Amino acid sequence: MDKLVIRGEQKLHGTIRAGGAKNAALPTMAASLLTAEEVTLRNVPDVRDIQTTRKLLEAMGVETEGSGGHHRIAMQARHVTHAQADYELVKTMRASTLVLGPLLARTGKATVSLPGGCAIGARPIDLHLKGLERLGANLRQEHGYVIAEAERLQGNTYSFDRITVTGTEDVLMAAVLARGETVLRNCALEPEVVDLAALLVKMGAKIEGAGTPVIRVQGVDQLGGATHTIIADRIEAGTYVMAALITGGEIEVTHCQPEHLEALLERLEEAGAKIRRSASSIGVARGERLRAVDISTAEFPGFATDLQAQYMALMTQAEGTAVITETIFENRFMHALELSRMGANIRIEGNRAVVRGPAPLTGAAVLASDLRASASLVLAGLAAEGETIIDRIYHLDRGYEKLEEKLRGAGAAVRRLGRLIPVANQHSAGIA
Ligand code: EPZ
Repeated sequence: MDKLVIRGEQKLHGTIRAGGAKNAALPTMAASLLTAEEVTLRNVPDVRDIQTTRKLLEAMGVETEGSGGHHRIAMQARHVTHAQADYELVKTMRASTLVLGPLLARTGKATVSLPGGCAIGARPIDLHLKGLERLGANLRQEHGYVIAEAERLQGNTYSFDRITVTGTEDVLMAAVLARGETVLRNCALEPEVVDLAALLVKMGAKIEGAGTPVIRVQGVDQLGGATHTIIADRIEAGTYVMAALITGGEIEVTHCQPEHLEALLERLEEAGAKIRRSASSIGVARGERLRAVDISTAEFPGFATDLQAQYMALMTQAEGTAVITETIFENRFMHALELSRMGANIRIEGNRAVVRGPAPLTGAAVLASDLRASASLVLAGLAAEGETIIDRIYHLDRGYEKLEEKLRGAGAAVRRLGRLIPVANQHSAGIA
C-alpha cells in the first residue's frame, strides 16, 4: 500500500502543468461503444480510473491501442461481445455506469452492476434509469445488477428530478441513437458534459444545447469514428492553485482553462489571493494575508463540490471563520476529521463545516478516504510543521497523474513510499 511522505513548510514556486480531465475522459471513452469505427482521444490523463475503464471496455470486446504515458488512446468497438459491466470493476469505479446508455443504444441490451454506496454518499443511479425508461428501455434488477433491454430506443422528453453529471451523460449517449427527437431538461452544465457532446457531434450525432439546461437530440441510425482532445482538468488545476496558496508560494498552472474555475478563483480573490488569468493558465500568489471566506458547493458554474475538501484545508490557514456548506453529497466531510488531527479547528454541523483559523498544523500519519479528501490532506501536509504520512494514496492515483512529481517540480518536499517488497522476493523482482 503506497504512502506519501510530505515535509511541510516549503513554499511552492514555478509552474505546474494541468493534465486532461478525468471526468471528461471517462464518458468519452464510454462513447466509443456507440460506433464500430475508431475513436481516438488525446490529452487523456494517465490515472487509475482511465486504466480501469480501458479494462472494462476491453472486456466488452473493444480493441484499444495507445499508452497512458503518451496521453492518447484509440478504441474500436467493432463488435461488442460482452454487454456487461461486472461488479468487481464497478465497485472500484462508480463511473463504470457510464457504459449503460451506450451499450443499450448500440446492442439493445446492457447488464451493469448497481454501483452500491461510496465514501461520500449513497450516490444512486435512479435518475439514469428513469431516463433510459423514458427512452423505451425495459429495466429489471437481478442479483445486484440492472438489466436494460430495448429493441430500438425511442426519442422522448425527460426532465431530471435533480441535476446529475453522469446521469446527463448516460442518457445523452443513449438518445443519440434513439429513433426521433429527445429533449432532456434540467441537465448538468459541467464542462465535461459539453466535451462529451462535442465528441458525439464529431461522431455524427445531432445535439443542440449542451452546456445549457435543455439538450435537444435528433437520433441517427449510426455514428462514425472521430478524434478528440479532452479538455483540461479543472479540479486538478484548482487543487494546485490552492496548494500554492496554502504554502504562501507563487505558481503558474499551465494548460488549463480558467473560465472553468471562476467560482473558485473569485472566492480566492476575496480571500486575498492575487490571481492572474490568461487563455490557458492561472498565475496565483498569496497576498499579505489570507482571509476566511464562506462557500457553498453547487452544480456548475457554482463552486465545485470536488474542490470543497481542498478549500477546507486552505481555510484552516485563513484568518477568521469560514462556513463551508456541502449541498451535493451527504457525507463529504471525511477529510475534516483527519485535518483536525493535524491541528485544524473545524466543527461539523450537518452539511456545514465551520472552520476557524489560522490554526497551525503539525504533520501526522493520516488516512485518505476518497479522491478529493486525499488531495485535501496533501495540501495540509504541505503547510504543516514536520512530516505528514498519507496512507491509502491509491485514492489519489485515481485522479491525479504524477502528483508527487508535479509538486516536487514546484519545490515541495514530497516522496512516495512504495510497497515494501520482502528481501527474499527482491532478487526475483530484479530489485536487489
Ligand atoms: C460526477 O459524479 C463526478 N464524477 C464527481 O466527481 C462529482 O463529484 C459529481 O459529478 C458532482 O459534480 C464523474 O464525472 C465521473 P451526480 P456523479 O450524479 O455524476 C444524486 C471526482 O472526485 N444522484 O452529479 O456520480 C447524487 O447522489 C468525482 O472526480 C441521485 O440521487 O454525480 C448526488 O447527491 C467524485 N440519483 C447528486 O445527485 C442519480 O441517479 C449529484 O450527483 C444520480 C445522482
